Amino acid sequence: MQPDDLKMTNSFIINTTGVVKRFRTNFALKGLDLKVPKGISGFVGRNGAGKTTTINVLLGLLRANSGEATFFGLDCWRDSYIIKRRLGVMHEVNAYPSSFTGGHFLAHVASIYEISQSKQRIKAVLKDVGLSDAANRSIGTYSAGMLKRLGLAQTLLGDPEFVILDEPTANIDPMGRITMLNHIKKLYKEKGTSFLISTHILSDLEKVCNWLSIVDSGKIVDQGDIKDLAEKYSANTYRIDISNPGLFLEKIHHVECVEKAWIEEGNICCKVQDANVFYNEVLKIATELNLTLKGLQQMHCTIEEIYKATAGANVYEI
Ligand SMILES: Nc1ncnc2c1ncn2[C@@H]1O[C@H](COP(=O)(O)OP(=O)(O)O)[C@@H](O)[C@H]1O
Ligand SMILES: [Mg+2]
Repeated sequence: MQPDDLKMTNSFIINTTGVVKRFRTNFALKGLDLKVPKGISGFVGRNGAGKTTTINVLLGLLRANSGEATFFGLDCWRDSYIIKRRLGVMHEVNAYPSSFTGGHFLAHVASIYEISQSKQRIKAVLKDVGLSDAANRSIGTYSAGMLKRLGLAQTLLGDPEFVILDEPTANIDPMGRITMLNHIKKLYKEKGTSFLISTHILSDLEKVCNWLSIVDSGKIVDQGDIKDLAEKYSANTYRIDISNPGLFLEKIHHVECVEKAWIEEGNICCKVQDANVFYNEVLKIATELNLTLKGLQQMHCTIEEIYKATAGANVYEI
């Protein structure tokens, strides 16, 4: 075991404390405490929340104004060269030479990074991402999903232990997204490759992640094991099926024990402090307004619901 690995035992692979990053007068990160363990982790937040800035700080492409950021127990700015050799990164925006075939492009990348036994590696990564059959086709003929998978193949060439994917499923169709995520899951299961997936498409994460870090306005609003988060937010989150939900929402907002209330698929969702007080208030309001209460149940939290309960955002806006 290397000294770095020793330091990593029982701790997080990525660990930032109070990271601040300012662009002139705009604070993109306002004291970010990001913790990411081994496994497949989701890094979620609306557009402009600070995901890409965070990734750039982690990669040593941007220097934080203050705070601490470590990756594998190493300093993200000072040791970025060593860190990057252990990583695969797919940036949010990528451009590929459309006249190259997928195979030629990867051969080109392998030669730049002096990857040994490149032929075998290229064959293996193309298989890993399901592009073996398209290896000899020019990139110009690839679909958006295939381009993202080519990007994933590129990040895997050096056999990294940790892969960062910035918005890997943005702009690709649902089938392409499922294929991409299945490959990620398979890589973790078969090779133990860890992933940090930044995305604003929350439903994608449900299928693959075991850890979630939620960022809003440059700060982590909550993070943890997905099962723990789901339990934490289900414990005091309720779904109400009621006639005229709009009218009911106006009233329930003002009830003291209700922390947050929103409408989802025609139902009211509430995060509350005290379930008993809440039940009584719901019945009182329904009677007062002469509404029909069709159902009231505790929510089993999906990632979307956890996100809404934490960031309080309208999911359709992120
Ligand atoms: N190079 C830059 N110069 C100025 N402002 C930036 C720059 N990069 C990001 N920002 C700002 O920082 C904030 C966070 O952006 P970003 O990290 O790209 O968010 P996300 O990836 O979550 O969409 C936004 O307000 C964005 O406008
Ligand atoms: Mg981004």
